Amino acid sequence: MTVQDNKSRYSPDFDMPVRGDTITADRYISRDWMDKEGQNLWPKVWHLGGMLAELEEEGDFIRHDFGKDSILMIAQADGSVRAFYNSCPHRGNRLVLGDAGSLPRITCGYHGWQFTPDGVLAKVQDPDDFAGGNPCGKVHLSELRCETWGPFVFWCMDDDVPPLAQWMAPLQERLANYGLDNWVRVLKLSCDAEFNWKVIRDNFNESYHLPTIHPELATFINDGLPTTVFEMYPSGHNAMWMIGHQATTRVDYHSAEVPAPLDDIARAWGIDPADYQGRTGEIRAAVIAAKRKLGPERGYTMYEHMTDQQLVDYFHCTLFPNLTLTMSPEQMQVLRTEPHPTDPEKCVFQHWCLYPPVKGMKEVVTPIGTVPLRHDAVARHSRYGDGVSLGFVADQDLSIGTTQQQGLNSRGFKGCILPGQEKRIQRFHELLNDYVAGKGPVQPA
Ligand code: FES
Ligand SMILES: [Fe+2]
Repeated sequence: MTVQDNKSRYSPDFDMPVRGDTITADRYISRDWMDKEGQNLWPKVWHLGGMLAELEEEGDFIRHDFGKDSILMIAQADGSVRAFYNSCPHRGNRLVLGDAGSLPRITCGYHGWQFTPDGVLAKVQDPDDFAGGNPCGKVHLSELRCETWGPFVFWCMDDDVPPLAQWMAPLQERLANYGLDNWVRVLKLSCDAEFNWKVIRDNFNESYHLPTIHPELATFINDGLPTTVFEMYPSGHNAMWMIGHQATTRVDYHSAEVPAPLDDIARAWGIDPADYQGRTGEIRAAVIAAKRKLGPERGYTMYEHMTDQQLVDYFHCTLFPNLTLTMSPEQMQVLRTEPHPTDPEKCVFQHWCLYPPVKGMKEVVTPIGTVPLRHDAVARHSRYGDGVSLGFVADQDLSIGTTQQQGLNSRGFKGCILPGQEKRIQRFHELLNDYVAGKGPVQPA
């Protein structure tokens, strides 16, 4: 993962060719595109459905509404999790209306059919009134694939998609050192937004917008091109390593005093910023050393498995097509957009934040402030524009969504013009073109 010069920002080990397909506006605005995605894209990928922490006892369930569909993930007697479509086999009524909970029996609200947690019909009204005899034990909820990784449960509608581990490659491996299995989702934020799901997806596939949309990050994340490394994998996913605990090289912060908040971060690890006057760039190495020394006694037992890079830098993993996992050693952000059920110019934006359960730690600093370290300490859904924060940085990203959607609707927009550093956007749309044309899923080499 080394970078030689300004032009080799793509890791030579993880680069992929692109064709140069024109990225036109129709994919963001037309119902035809939306329908094709519904047919050829969404059934062909794995979807993050929710947290395993909510599926401990038999009958515990979580519901994930996606587009027009709704999926139930249900804990089984043997500790496994199975996923079912949330639709009654009798006449199609949506079975479960709650987001999560525990149900020894799933009971349809229309005619009262009951199902056990393994999806088997257990009770009906008038069982003798069926031509084939009592349907109990014979009728099942419609099932789909379900697998788990780390603290998460995933579902997939299609049997031809590779298993989750293969589909995620190589990110499972790259994320292993963080020790994510028991991390706690503290924030579960979401909102309805007035733009196509790909508008924010594109935003997460580039860092070109950081100096304009997130100027505050410049004093502790180095977004300079020579130091930021992009990786593109055969699986269709990609990642970006951005140097942390270091000010940007776009601006000369390095000859003066250590800027905020880097000064406070240094102090928190027992480093006196005054000692680094004119040497701000060296704080990062000092933090690595301090974390190695002080981390274990402060409860950060996972540090010992992490590389130096993982201890201080930001690793943004973007899984095709719509899931971003942004890693620092003490926080995982899950950021994604999902399509609106019927309107291509709307979407649902979701932002979860997970934290390691550090012994003795009662609260954590999150993108919306200090919050108790417990499952879903803040869980809320809002409408973008109503003044409810989705997290400081996410709010900044969302702020461009509506105006970009408007501009994409212009007759004057002829297609995107991308600099080299936005190659991940180009590849994303070329993969999308292939899927929509019925050529998905990607089969990793
Ligand atoms: S539709 Fe579910 S019991 Fe009739
Ligand atoms: Fe951003």
